[in-house]
Amino acid sequence: MTTELLSLAKYLASSRAEFALSEMNQYLSRKYEEKELFEILKPHFYDLDLFCDAGYKCTKLVKRPLPSDENVVRELEALFKNPQLPARVEKLINSYIERSCGKDWHTGERGLLIRENIVKQKEEYWKGTGSSQYPKIRIISYLLYHFPVYFCSFQYMLLELFRGGLLTNKMSILDAGAGPGTITLSTLDFIQELQEIYSWNKIDVKLNIRIDSIERAPENIDCYKELTSLYLSGLTQENTNITINEPVHSSIEAAPALPDVDLMVFSNVLAEMNAPPSHRADVVEMAASGSKNPTMVIIEPADLDNSKALRVTQHALVKKGFAVYSPCSFIWGLECSGENCWSFQELGNIRAPDFMEKIANTGEFYRYINTDMKFSFVISRKDGLVKHKYLAKGKFMRLSNLKKHIEKRVNITVSVMSGNLGDERTFVYKICDGTSSVPCYAVLPAYHISDNNSMLFEAGYGGIVEIYGTLVRENKALSSYNLLVMRNTMVRAAE
Ligand SMILES: C[S@@+](CC[C@H](N)C(=O)[O-])C[C@H]1O[C@@H](n2cnc3c(N)ncnc32)[C@H](O)[C@@H]1O
Repeated sequence: MTTELLSLAKYLASSRAEFALSEMNQYLSRKYEEKELFEILKPHFYDLDLFCDAGYKCTKLVKRPLPSDENVVRELEALFKNPQLPARVEKLINSYIERSCGKDWHTGERGLLIRENIVKQKEEYWKGTGSSQYPKIRIISYLLYHFPVYFCSFQYMLLELFRGGLLTNKMSILDAGAGPGTITLSTLDFIQELQEIYSWNKIDVKLNIRIDSIERAPENIDCYKELTSLYLSGLTQENTNITINEPVHSSIEAAPALPDVDLMVFSNVLAEMNAPPSHRADVVEMAASGSKNPTMVIIEPADLDNSKALRVTQHALVKKGFAVYSPCSFIWGLECSGENCWSFQELGNIRAPDFMEKIANTGEFYRYINTDMKFSFVISRKDGLVKHKYLAKGKFMRLSNLKKHIEKRVNITVSVMSGNLGDERTFVYKICDGTSSVPCYAVLPAYHISDNNSMLFEAGYGGIVEIYGTLVRENKALSSYNLLVMRNTMVRAAE
């Protein structure tokens, strides 16, 4: 019977822009309640290109970028100004911890064990290994320590994708190495917020989202299923159909490529693979092989080793023909080597959720508080799309030529590839134009700040600036170049 219903739904979806599920009864040998039809067809709405609302009215969806009017972007930005776990997510995690470890989880022996595990997990984590004798405690530690910043950071990544028109009204998402569901939950919550903003702004957007995941640890799959289904059950989904498929229990390397994925996220997972960084690109390529033009997001920790490894993976992807959408721009049209590149985004601190404060409530508070949003990422595309199309023309010096111009003033055009690495007296930004693997920094002493050069502060991570009349200095001790920005050095936004 489902086959008959499906072909009828397919027919109606292809012949009308809108129809009511009750209309199906005109063509069927027996009568169905609308609710019954809704439940039978629900798992198929995505493949049928349909959005069906709670009143059982179905609308044909044509895949297009989500409207990103200025107002909407501004309201989303305002929402993330004071980053924190939304109350509903904090409550969800808190009750999961209480269900797993009891109401007094943060005290006595249990609290000690969790604290010990947080410290151990941090050590393993930075080394890129991941095993524990206590898988359940391991998840609890992860939720307490890592989950909140990763959840909030990913919402900024979604904002970046949204601004660039890379999120669509019909979207299939793959959460690879899903863990307890950080990325899935962060996405669900972003969509919920976005729909609320659309609704205040009287913008009617119907969404159909399908989320798949791959995860090798069974206990993480259990946690993922519990958290995502509880989150969904508490959600009002007026204008959104969401399907979360059963997680695929497998390593990403062995899982068959899913067809037609729009957004693939590898968040804090590639570094856990045994494969060397350049070979990790093979895994990403394989995962993307079933999809026409997926947006691939890879996120890794900001520490030196993991961050540098990500750029090597990124370079291997570029060699395979994938484009870097952001944060890097190949300003001179040359691929950089990806070597010796330590660059990460810094977004400030989130408010520590109550559960984090509870576990940190010891003499060594700092060991258990993790609120700093700092991470390395790359967004990549098959179709060559890049965030900044800007290409340098002749009047600028390539950073690879600086050696011949020490103590001279030059004009350069570069991407700003860090936040302020200095302090309030001397501002230091990593800069790159894709031509040199020697680290280069724009250095602006506070007493030289002027209207001519203040654009350096506004460029933002990955933003491109043209810098006129900067003094080249070699830092022999650190094998790097400092480009001194002085009062009369001009810094302009390039576009
Ligand atoms: C650090 S957690 C990241 C979880 C989540 N993506 C996040 O950002 O919070 C890494 C997760 O990837 C899983 N994992 C590691 N290597 C994997 C692989 N080769 N295939 C599938 N899952 C993997 C681990 O079991 C763990 O759940």
